[in-house]
Amino acid sequence: MKKQRILYGLTMLIVVLSISIALAIVPPPPANQNLGVYDTMYEGFAEDECRACHSSGVPDTHHMLVPNEGYNCTDCHKLGPTGGIDTPIRDCLVCHNASPHHTADEALARHCSHCHGSLVDDYDDGHYIPTYDPSLITPDTSYTWINGTTNMKGGGCEACHEANITPVSGAAIYDNYQTHHSIWPGDNGMCGVCHDVTGTNVSIRKCEECHGVKSLHNIQYDYATTEGKLGYGHIGASWDCMGCHSWFEASSTATQGPITPNIANISSDELVAGVGTVITITGSNLKNTVDGVDYTSEVVIDDGVTNMTLIPDSVTDSKIVVTLPGIGKGNYGLRVAKDDLKSKLVPIVVAPQVSIDSATIRRDIVTIRGSGFGDESGESYSELLGVTITCEGDDLETSIISWDDTRIVGDCPSATVGALATVTTLYGSDSATITGSRRR
Ligand code: HEC
Ligand code: HEC
Ligand code: HEC
Ligand code: HEC
Ligand code: HEC
Ligand code: HEC
Ligand code: HEC
Ligand code: HEC
Repeated sequence: MKKQRILYGLTMLIVVLSISIALAIVPPPPANQNLGVYDTMYEGFAEDECRACHSSGVPDTHHMLVPNEGYNCTDCHKLGPTGGIDTPIRDCLVCHNASPHHTADEALARHCSHCHGSLVDDYDDGHYIPTYDPSLITPDTSYTWINGTTNMKGGGCEACHEANITPVSGAAIYDNYQTHHSIWPGDNGMCGVCHDVTGTNVSIRKCEECHGVKSLHNIQYDYATTEGKLGYGHIGASWDCMGCHSWFEASSTATQGPITPNIANISSDELVAGVGTVITITGSNLKNTVDGVDYTSEVVIDDGVTNMTLIPDSVTDSKIVVTLPGIGKGNYGLRVAKDDLKSKLVPIVVAPQVSIDSATIRRDIVTIRGSGFGDESGESYSELLGVTITCEGDDLETSIISWDDTRIVGDCPSATVGALATVTTLYGSDSATITGSRRR
């Protein structure tokens, strides 16, 4: 049989490649884990993997919930045995014990590309889904043939996307059934998102609502160096086409577009409200040439309502340097957009900056002016936060009279001109030397 002969050829190739490329699992299955989200279930993620995406501002994003959402310190922090606040719990999974991402509005609205980028399409973005009857070359949701001896599959997603039969570094890789069913566990009424409404029929046409021809034909890791090589995605070599299209072999390079860009990480300096910051984004497919056309990327900051598009200072295939303007405090998403393809979303957190413009004393009253002091009264967490006034290294007793975002007034009978005033909030602190009162 023709199919059999192709498979024997493939098996030979596998032997040769597994010797020459030791680090990467090429060819799959299981597929490498260079693009998108690691193919595991929520329980498979560990704290450091959460922090790989939530690379900065984790304390700030929680602490901004205090004034914004009415949380108290003790909702998240326990008091220690000797009084005061105990060491914070830092392991995300202790508190976030089910996927917080798939209860987000965008997930429930089936706009998976909001976070997963153009590795997937959205059901309502108008992308092309064939209407012709599935044919011999139409990929199956699992596979259309299997080699009885080697168990190699072909003609569907399972040809390459399988649980980790051969271990790859990191957590266990699960199969498509498990990864897709883990986002909304249990009996949840969401079955119709991936199956037809009447039941659980599996049809590639339904999968194509998210895995359309457009997104599938643009998935390739590091196209610049893997063009023509098999096993790094969907369009590196004819072998890749065959994984989905069975015996269909391409006569020339496929009709791809710009190739979906991929963010690996962003430099995680603290972002401060109102202050411009230069950040470095590393990844792959950030800039490339396909069929003589050059594609380059822009950086998009998404505040949930509007998008701000930034032209990078420099772009290479693997690195973007971009200057973020001074934006307001809050949670944002950052992505890279190349032509009409977008990378996955990476969260960034902008914290308010504490800055003292002046500290003055008149009689016993110290007035501190500046910005970013917050609206905290200081009462509930006075041991950690507030105003300290030091003279020659000794803390002086201060009682707060009023505190708002731009002005703090305190009573400090022993303060003098020349003492140091420090304001500490949840997001940082600043100090200034106290001067005599000026008339305003
Ligand atoms: C692939 C990148 C990525 C990884 C890995 C990741 N996150 Fe997220 N997370 C995001 C993005 C993107 C958002 C949404 C940001 C937005 O909409 O602006 C988000 C949002 C959240 C939210 C807020 C959800 C809401 O209600 O809107 C929580 C909580 C969260 N992540 C916790 C975690 C935890 C815990 C882990 C580890 C198990 C984790 N994240 C791993 C990218 C990631
Ligand atoms: C919604 C939950 C939540 C609330 C409310 C909260 N915290 Fe935290 N806090 C955290 C988490 C989570 C961390 C650990 C962050 C990390 O490991 O990156 C943390 C860390 C800290 C830290 C250590 C700072 C650091 O850089 O790691 C201090 C200090 C702190 N919190 C004080 C407070 C105070 C004071 C309050 C009340 C005003 C408060 N927190 C309210 C969740 C919270
Ligand atoms: C001590 C418990 C605790 C820990 C530890 C913790 N969180 Fe949270 N986190 C919360 C609570 C409570 C909320 C608010 C309710 C919610 O969204 O689940 C929250 C909310 C968030 C949000 C959304 C903030 C917003 O503005 O809505 C993000 C993002 C987040 N957590 C990420 C993380 C990440 C990443 C880690 C680990 C590095 C982590 N959390 C560790 C308790 C915790
Ligand atoms: C708010 C951001 C966000 C949205 C929106 C979102 N996801 Fe995810 N998704 C994540 C993150 C982060 C992970 C990894 C951590 C986790 O499982 O929560 C993930 C993991 C997954 C996984 C398992 C990992 C893998 O590679 O197989 C699947 C499957 C998945 N998402 C499907 C979906 C589907 C389907 C939708 C739309 C209905 C969707 N996601 C919408 C952020 C998101
Ligand atoms: C010829 C092998 C092969 C076949 C068949 C295949 N894929 Fe892939 N796919 C890959 C490789 C390799 C990657 C890149 C993995 C990486 O480096 O993260 C990939 C990546 C993906 C991604 C990006 C997210 C991720 O996990 O990396 C999606 C989505 C995807 N494939 C969907 C599908 C679907 C749907 C099918 C079936 C219609 C399918 N694939 C069939 C090899 C294949
Ligand atoms: C996010 C997408 C998604 C959702 C939501 C989803 N499934 Fe699935 N389902 C899949 C995938 C992917 C497969 C594997 C298809 C394959 O391997 O051929 C699958 C396979 C199945 C199968 C096996 C069918 C077979 O012929 O092998 C059953 C049964 C099933 N799902 C039932 C359900 C039920 C019941 C629900 C709702 C509680 C549900 N699914 C929700 C994606 C999903
Ligand atoms: C509602 C949208 C949606 C539907 C419908 C859907 N998927 Fe997915 N699929 C996703 C998302 C999101 C991912 C994760 C991409 C990433 O890793 O960033 C994914 C990933 C995959 C992958 C790559 C491996 C992995 O786990 O990342 C395969 C293979 C796959 N899906 C097969 C299927 C099959 C087969 C069906 C139909 C039975 C299906 N999907 C239906 C959204 C969907
Ligand atoms: C991840 C799976 C996958 C891979 C790999 C893949 N394709 Fe496809 N391709 C599809 C799907 C799904 C369709 C829609 C076919 C259908 O539903 O009948 C399609 C359709 C096509 C079509 C018909 C387009 C139309 O207008 O209907 C051509 C031509 C094609 N693919 C060529 C290729 C070539 C050449 C390669 C390798 C460079 C390739 N494909 C790799 C999944 C894939």
